[in-house]
Amino acid sequence: MKLAILSRNTKLYSTRRLVEAARSRGHTVRILDPLRCYMRITSSGFGMHYKGKALTGIDVVIPRIGASITRYGTAVLRQFEMMGARTPNPSDAILRARDKLRAHQLLAAKGIDMPVTVFGDNPDDTDDLLSMLGPPPHVVKLSEGTQGRGVILTEKLSASKGTVEALRGLYANFLVQEFIAEAQGADLRCLVVGDQVVATMRRQAQEGDFRSNLHAGGVAERVQCSKAEQQVAIRSAKALGLGIAGVDLIRSKRGPLVLEVNSTPGLEGIEGVSGDDIAGRMIEYVTSLKR
Ligand SMILES: Nc1ncnc2c1ncn2[C@@H]1O[C@H](COP(=O)(O)OP(=O)(O)OP(=O)(O)O)[C@@H](O)[C@H]1O
Ligand SMILES: [Mg+2]
Repeated sequence: MKLAILSRNTKLYSTRRLVEAARSRGHTVRILDPLRCYMRITSSGFGMHYKGKALTGIDVVIPRIGASITRYGTAVLRQFEMMGARTPNPSDAILRARDKLRAHQLLAAKGIDMPVTVFGDNPDDTDDLLSMLGPPPHVVKLSEGTQGRGVILTEKLSASKGTVEALRGLYANFLVQEFIAEAQGADLRCLVVGDQVVATMRRQAQEGDFRSNLHAGGVAERVQCSKAEQQVAIRSAKALGLGIAGVDLIRSKRGPLVLEVNSTPGLEGIEGVSGDDIAGRMIEYVTSLKR
């Protein structure tokens, strides 16, 4: 089959592994920089060019679109969809996952549990907004934050208020959640491929921190997750329409809670920890997709 990977960086571990896994299974694969794809839209058809040449006959597109180019990247992916290519993660599903408020609403509507979450716009409403959440500690999260940056634990109500007011002053988007103390600084990354969890890793925050991100000093190890955790991860990916997803969960007294559904999960950490050929599982899945 003819595959294309939409990625800005050919040297990334995940991109390289997907290319390797596709070629070793006899497929043709190209890496396309989404920002170099340009498009023709007419009522009689859709066209795409890349560095001066027409792109045709691509069967499957694997999007690895970074957050900073979500808008243009998903437009390129949508054009491929219009041209008949298959993809594990359609453009609309990526947009659902990238918009944190929307993703939380869609997951909750499907009965998927998460930390209680509030958000608002007007500073006059901050007191009542925080009272809707319940007593502190709270976790304030910047919508644009990743890798644990922009995730703040506030132990007192005055700290929650002050943080919210400071972020408003900077015109930042954020949400506020109940703090799940019993997670003890650990989260689970479940990698969903199709209707299966193909690998799981547990990330543990370093001493003195509650954020388990590896970039914030967390360490990863292989774990076996429970059937219930697998089911939540699979249902979360499905709720957003993603065929491939990295679902982050924390363990709480009331069961697994979803923190985030990532539409471009990295392979380096999880292949390293699991020792499995996860890229191969992804290629086998995407090449089995029906139109
Ligand atoms: N409500 C919460 N209660 C307890 N711990 C939390 C909570 N929210 C987040 N954490 C911890 O903080 C870490 C970072 O939070 P989160 O994953 O939401 O943000 P991020 O990694 O910066 O961004 P994203 O994963 O959305 O790209 C989590 O992995 C988890 O360990
Ligand atoms: Mg995270």
